[in-house]
Amino acid sequence: MAECLKATAEAIERAGAAIREGRLAGFPTETVYGLGADATDDKAVASIFEAKGRPRFNPLIVHVADFAEAEKYCVFNAEAEKLARIFWPGGITLVLPRRADTPLSLLVSAGLDTVAIRVPAHETARALIKVAKRPLAAPSANPSGKVSPTCAAHVMEGLGSAPQLAFVLDGGPCPLGLESTVIGFPQGIPTLLRPGAVARDEIETVLGRPLMDADAARGEEGRASPGQLESHYAPGSPIRLNAREVAEDEVLLAFGPDAPDAKTSMNLSASGDLGQAAANLFAMLRALDAKAQGRRIAVMPIPMTGLGEAINDRLKRAAAPRESKG
Ligand code: TXA
Ligand code: MG
Repeated sequence: MAECLKATAEAIERAGAAIREGRLAGFPTETVYGLGADATDDKAVASIFEAKGRPRFNPLIVHVADFAEAEKYCVFNAEAEKLARIFWPGGITLVLPRRADTPLSLLVSAGLDTVAIRVPAHETARALIKVAKRPLAAPSANPSGKVSPTCAAHVMEGLGSAPQLAFVLDGGPCPLGLESTVIGFPQGIPTLLRPGAVARDEIETVLGRPLMDADAARGEEGRASPGQLESHYAPGSPIRLNAREVAEDEVLLAFGPDAPDAKTSMNLSASGDLGQAAANLFAMLRALDAKAQGRRIAVMPIPMTGLGEAINDRLKRAAAPRESKG
């Protein structure tokens, strides 16, 4: 069983040493908890896929200390640099061409010639990168296809018994609660590959032009962001979206002040605040899933503005048919 440690300086040292030895450590970021490995070590990166039970090699995000370090691994265009300088450290990931001489494992890119990279803002994540002295490959720390973890207990519940996992650093609940926004540049055009913790309009304001949608960027190969499977973030219970009333055989995930009465319900944000809803989303999906016991989870409509785009994206995946789960 992995050891779950409060994220003290000493615990971070131990996790950093484990990572240098090729083992895995769970750690908090401002978005969700990550399952970290030395991004330059093929075997360590491979063990991430093993621990998560990923059916195939989706590319991973590499977490680094700052912009200067990112530049050692990939090639920035002017718009990517602008986004990095404004949003880093923070919840935005950039997909950029790998440098020819990069020490990063090929497996982090899953065979692509690009790498996804970000500078996290969370103190513990930053300290871990520093003491590990390695770039950290880290997907969300959940078994493949399950809801992303927003606290250390979620990580222990899903991956605690994975033999590759040495430590989970407990830094409390994640302040943003949604994965980072992923931006790529197919044919040089800034493209929203995954909506996330930084809302589209904030990014478009900085760039002074609209982001292309991933669907438009999708070529012959299917997916611009290979991890964006239809069914993902899936709790065990069936989910019904855009519910305005709740049936006998349902529990309710509410949003806003006008929630209908239900025996079992949780409200993402009673005041209708989308930031609060994002931070609560995964923890409440888990809690309702545990209480549902065969019942369906009815989810009230969430507006598409701001962070609503990312929240609706995750809910759509949680509700999607399960056959294609990855
Ligand atoms: O907030 C986050 O981003 C969290 C924390 C731990 O940093 N990480 C995370 O990683 O959500 P993961 O592996 O669950 O999601 C990575 C996403 C996937 O949708 C994947 O397809 C995309 O980034 N991605 C990674 N590398 C890519 C690449 N080279 N090209 C296109 N998409 C890529
Ligand atoms: Mg994930």
